[in-house]
Amino acid sequence: MTSSLLPALRTALPTATIWDSSELASRDPGFDGRNFGAAALVRPKDTEGVAALVRFCAERGISLVAQGGRTGLAGGAATSAGQVICDLGGLNQIEEIDPLARTAIVQAGTTLGALQEAAAVHGLDPGIDLAARGSATIGGMVSTNAGGIMAFRNGTMRHRVLGLEAVLPDGRVFCDLTRVLKTSAGYDLKHLFIGAEGTLGIVTRVTVRLDPVAGAGATALVGVPDARSAQRIVRHFLASTSARLTAAEILWRNFASLMQRALNYAPGSLPLDAPCLLVVGLGADSMETARGALEDGLAAIWEDAAIVDGLVASSEAQAAAMWRLREETEQIERAHPMAPSFDVSVPAGALDAYVARIEAGLKTIDASYAPYVYGHLADGNLHISINCDGPVSHERHEAIEDVLYEGLREAGGSFSAEHGVGLDKREAYERHADPVKQELSRMIKQLIDPANVMNPGKIVG
Ligand code: MLT
Ligand code: ZN
Repeated sequence: MTSSLLPALRTALPTATIWDSSELASRDPGFDGRNFGAAALVRPKDTEGVAALVRFCAERGISLVAQGGRTGLAGGAATSAGQVICDLGGLNQIEEIDPLARTAIVQAGTTLGALQEAAAVHGLDPGIDLAARGSATIGGMVSTNAGGIMAFRNGTMRHRVLGLEAVLPDGRVFCDLTRVLKTSAGYDLKHLFIGAEGTLGIVTRVTVRLDPVAGAGATALVGVPDARSAQRIVRHFLASTSARLTAAEILWRNFASLMQRALNYAPGSLPLDAPCLLVVGLGADSMETARGALEDGLAAIWEDAAIVDGLVASSEAQAAAMWRLREETEQIERAHPMAPSFDVSVPAGALDAYVARIEAGLKTIDASYAPYVYGHLADGNLHISINCDGPVSHERHEAIEDVLYEGLREAGGSFSAEHGVGLDKREAYERHADPVKQELSRMIKQLIDPANVMNPGKIVG
C-alpha cells in the first residue's frame, strides 16, 4: 500500500506538504518516539485541505492521527505503520482578535505562545498557561482539555473555548464558531471534541475567550511544611483585592532537590530547604504593587501558615530561576530516562494524606521508590514521576497505578487530570473510569466514527 499511497496523496492534496516514512524517520518526533511511526505525514493548509485528507483516508479505510505540537504526555499522537498523520502545523494563523468581545479566532496549529503574544498586544491573555507554551498548539490543547498553571482561576481549555470547527470522520465540517459565552440552544456538541484526542474529528479552528492581563507580575518562592500550609497561603492571596493570584505551584522536597541539583543552583541561593516549596505568582498594575502585595501578604500569613522560609524575587532573572525549578521537568527524563509518570487530580482537603499514602505504598512495591511530586496546588493536580528508569514491566506499572489511583474516583479526583488518556492510560481508563461513561463513550464513537478512522486505539479503542 505504501508505495501507491504517497503518489495518491500527492495527487489528492497537491498543495499540502507530505513526508513519507523515511522522511519521518529522519525528523524530530517530539516528546514521544512513537509519534512518527506512520506511513506518511500530511500538512494541509486549511480546513478544506484537512477535509480532503479525511475523505481520502475514509475512502481507503486508512486511519488518521491528528498532531499539533507533538509534546503530549500520554501517547495520544502515537502512530503505527499504515497510518497517516494529519499535521495541523499548516493551520497556524490567528485569524482575528476582537478586543471588545475579548475573543480570538485561531487555527488549530497556532501555538499557545503565539496566541499569548498576539493577545498581549491588546492587554489580553487566553487565560491558560503551561510549560510547553512554545510548542503546544491550541488544537492539541483542546483535544486533551489541557489545564496548566491558571486553571484554578480560569478553568481548563474546556472553559476557555467558546466555539470550534472540526472535520468529521466522513469529511463533513462541524462548524460552531460561537463568539459569545451564553448559548443554551440544545446539546453543546463542541464539548464532544474537547478532550476527545482527535477520536471524533479533527479540530481545525477555535474561538478562545480572552481576559484582561495584569500589567506586571511578581514571583515568590516559599518554603512550607506541607500542602495544607501552602493552601492557606493560596487562600490568603485569593482574597486579596490589591493583587491577583496568577500561579500557585507546589514542589515536594524530592522533586525540588532533583531540580536544584540538575540546574546547578548554589546552596543558599534560593530558600529551598523545606518539605514543600510553593511558587506563588501575583499580578497587579505595576511590579512594585505586585511585589509589595507579595511581601505584605506573606508577612501577614507567615505564622498562621507556618512558613519556613520565603523570598520575593527582586529581579526578572530571579523570578525566572524560581520558575525553572518548577517548569524544567525534562530534568526528570534526563535523570531517569522514560521514568513512569502520572498526572492525577486530588481533592483539596486530601493532598497531604494522598502524598503520604502513595509514598508509603510505593515503598511496598520497591523500597527504593521515592516519587517526585509537584504540580498545580490550587486545583489539586499533581504530577508524579517514579525515581527509576523506564519502562517498567507491565505488572510493575499496574502495581504503581493501583497505589496512585486507589480511591481517587470515589473521592472525586481523577486518574488523568490534564494530559489525556492516549495510549498510555488506556488500561487505567478501562480499570478506573466509570463503566457507564465508558459504554456511552463507545456508543458516541461508534455513531460519529463507525469505521474507526480517527485515531483508533486511543481512549475508547
Ligand atoms: C507541567 O505541569 O509541568 C506539565 O503538565 C507537564 C509535566 O507533567 O511535566
Ligand atoms: Zn501540569
